[in-house]
Amino acid sequence: MHPVPRVFKRYLILAAAIVFALVCSLEGLKAWNGRVTPEKVASGKLLFEHQWKIGDSLCGGGDGLGPVFNARSCAACHFQGGLGGSSGNQFNVTSFEVISEGERIKEGVVHADSISPLEQEQKAQVNALFPRTIQRSIIQNTAAMQDCAPGSNRATARQVIEIDDPVIFQELNSPALFGVGLIDEISNLSISLHGQKRFANVIAKELTGDVSGNRLGIVNTVNRNIGKFGWKGQFASLEEFVASACAMEIGLTNRLHSQQMPKQYAADPNAAMDMTSEQLHQLVCFVRSLPRPVQVLPKETVGRFRVERGEVIFGQIGCTDCHIENLGGIEQIFSDFHLYNLEPIQPSGSRGGGYNDGEAEKQFEFDRSQPHPDQWQTPPLWGVADSAPYFHDGQSPTLRAAILRHRGQARSSSDQFSKLSAYDQACVLAFLKTLRGPQLTADSLSQP
Ligand code: HEC
Ligand code: HEC
Repeated sequence: MHPVPRVFKRYLILAAAIVFALVCSLEGLKAWNGRVTPEKVASGKLLFEHQWKIGDSLCGGGDGLGPVFNARSCAACHFQGGLGGSSGNQFNVTSFEVISEGERIKEGVVHADSISPLEQEQKAQVNALFPRTIQRSIIQNTAAMQDCAPGSNRATARQVIEIDDPVIFQELNSPALFGVGLIDEISNLSISLHGQKRFANVIAKELTGDVSGNRLGIVNTVNRNIGKFGWKGQFASLEEFVASACAMEIGLTNRLHSQQMPKQYAADPNAAMDMTSEQLHQLVCFVRSLPRPVQVLPKETVGRFRVERGEVIFGQIGCTDCHIENLGGIEQIFSDFHLYNLEPIQPSGSRGGGYNDGEAEKQFEFDRSQPHPDQWQTPPLWGVADSAPYFHDGQSPTLRAAILRHRGQARSSSDQFSKLSAYDQACVLAFLKTLRGPQLTADSLSQP
C-alpha cells in the first residue's frame, strides 16, 4: 500500500477538524434549545428587573447587593427602547487597564457605588495601587503590523509609545442586548473564515501596490474560543458574560464569578454565593430570549430608494469590510467580531496619563495574546438607529459623528464617506436609520 502523501494528510486533518467543529456547534445549539423553557425565561426576566438589596431574600445565605456595585439591577443600564436595550452616558461604567512590562494587561472596574461610604472606590486609589513609572514600549499596531493573518506575530513596522502612567481609564457605554442569543451561536469557524477571506483580499490588493483600503484586525481569543461579547470581545459565551455582569455590576457572587473586594480591584475568593446555578441559568435564558433587532423600511418609494442607494454605497466605501451583513447564518448583523484600532488612546484618568509618543529607551513588547487598550471590537450595527450614543465610550452622539470618528485602521472608509456628496451621505445615514431595535409593544414586554 502507498503511504498517504503528506499534503493529503494535512487536508484530511483539516477536513476532520472542520466536521468536528460543525458537529460541536450543532450539539451546543441543541443543548441550549432543550434547556430554555418559557418558565425559565419568565423567572429570568424577574431577576433582570429585580432591585437587589443588601442581604436580599433572593440570595440565600449570600450578602446580596455589593459590597461594591454600579447599579441595583440589570434593567438600570439596559432599558433604552425596551427591557434589554442600551443606555445613555449617565450609566457608563468606569473601567481601567494596567500595562506593565512583561505582564498581562490587568483590567478592572472602579465601581460607582458601595454599601458603605468607607468602601467607596475612587480612580485615585487605582493610581496609588499602580504608581506612575516611565515605561517605554514598542506597540506594534501600525498599519503594516495589522496586515498579518489573524493571530500571527509577524511585525513589519513598529511605533514607539511611551507610557508614563501604567493605568488607563476608559468609560464604557452599555450596549443593547437584543439578539445576543443569536450572537452566542455564531461559530469560531465563521468568524475566522471571514478573517481569512479579508486577509486574502487585502494581500491580493497590496501585491498590485494598492495599500489604500481598510486594514486588518485581530480576534480576541478567550480559552481557545473567539470572544464575541463586550466592547473588546473579552467573553466568548453569553453565560460567562452574564455571570461576570452579576458579580461586577451588582456584586452577586455566582458559580462562575465572585463579587469584588472593595478597593482591591480583585475577586473575593471567600464570598458566599448570592445566586444559585439555577438563578444564573434563568437569567441567561431571559437574556438569550431577547428578540433580535429588525430592519424597518420606509413605505414611500422615494424613501426606499434612498435607503437602497445608501446600502449600496455602504458596501462601496468599504463599511462592509468590518460591518459584514451576514455572519454564521445570522442575517443583517453587520459585524465581523474582529478588533480594530480606530484612534489613539486619549489622555485619561485623574493623573491625565495615558499614551504618549516618545523615543525608545527601555523597550518591551505587549503580550500579543491580549488586545491593546486602543483596540475595540466592531459592534453589530443591527438596531443601531435606536442605540445612541455610539462607540465604546458613548462619546459620539450621532451616527454621522460615529462615522467620522473612524480613523486609524478604518480611515479609508471615513475618508471616502467625507468625499461623498451631501445627498449620498444622507443616503448612507438613511440606510443606518432603518436598522431598528426590535419593535417591542407593551404586550411583548409583559410576556417574555
Ligand atoms: C451599570 C450599568 C450596567 C449594569 C447594571 C449591567 N450592565 Fe450589562 N453592560 C454594561 C456595559 C457598560 C457593558 C459593556 C461592557 C464591556 O464591554 O466590558 C455591558 C455589556 C453587557 C453584555 C454584553 C453584550 C454584548 O453584546 O457585548 C451583556 C450580555 C450584559 N451586559 C448583561 C447584563 C446583565 C445580565 C446584567 C445584570 C446582571 C447587566 N448587564 C448589568 C452596563 C451594565
Ligand atoms: C476597519 C473596520 C471598520 C470599518 C471599515 C468601519 N467600521 Fe464602523 N466600527 C468599527 C469599530 C471597531 C467600531 C467601534 C469603535 C469603538 O467603539 O471605539 C465601529 C463603530 C461604528 C458605529 C457605532 C456603533 C455603535 O453601536 O456604537 C457605526 C454607526 C459605524 N461603525 C458605522 C460605520 C460605517 C457607516 C462605516 C463605513 C463608512 C464603517 N463603520 C466602517 C469598525 C469599522
